[in-house]
Amino acid sequence: MHTITRARLADARAMLDLQRRAFAEEGRRVGTLEDGRAIPPLAEPLDAIEEHILQHTALVARRGEHIVGAVRGVLADRVCVIRALVVDAEHRGAGIGSSLLAALEEAVADAERFDLTTNTIMEGNVPFYEGHGYRVIRIDRHSDRVALAQMSKPAARPSAAS
Ligand SMILES: CC(C)(COP(=O)(O)OP(=O)(O)OC[C@H]1O[C@@H](n2cnc3c(N)ncnc32)[C@H](O)[C@@H]1OP(=O)(O)O)[C@@H](O)C(=O)NCCC(=O)NCCS
Repeated sequence: MHTITRARLADARAMLDLQRRAFAEEGRRVGTLEDGRAIPPLAEPLDAIEEHILQHTALVARRGEHIVGAVRGVLADRVCVIRALVVDAEHRGAGIGSSLLAALEEAVADAERFDLTTNTIMEGNVPFYEGHGYRVIRIDRHSDRVALAQMSKPAARPSAAS
């Protein structure tokens, strides 16, 4: 069993390490972006995650003491952009990613819509999000290896303030 809670500042290092492990395969497949940068979750510094924990929504999934999954969201103009949904490889396929996604949607109660970007080079990602009600809005092709799917889903319930 796993439990999902708000991330604490002290979780940032474990979240960064998990994120780097989880996106390593995508990094191997893509290499660097055309402008020479690493893919964003691999290039993100620790202080950006700490700031996210303080300013926005960040959730972690734990098994015992260990953080085995995480997800983050940024709400602006009633649109929540979902970032860095990750589950450690040995814990995948057990529903942790799905429950993190559902918990984030629940936690960002003011959102009218959820948006995310995912790399189609990871063939399981678009079907995973489609299985949770997201639809591909657009594919942005950046190179032979990088085609980013922009996906979106309306919030399940209307915002109370709308
Ligand atoms: C995508 C991810 C978060 C799913 O987490 P998870 O805990 O395995 O998800 P769940 O157990 O809730 O759901 C598993 C489903 O995801 C799909 N899936 C997508 N990528 C997968 C992967 N690399 N490994 C296992 N399952 C994967 C499976 O096909 C499965 O579908 P099914 O239920 O129809 O069999 C996880 O695979 C991951 O961390 N991937 C690397 C990071 C990444 O690409 N994140 C998304 C960035 S936008």
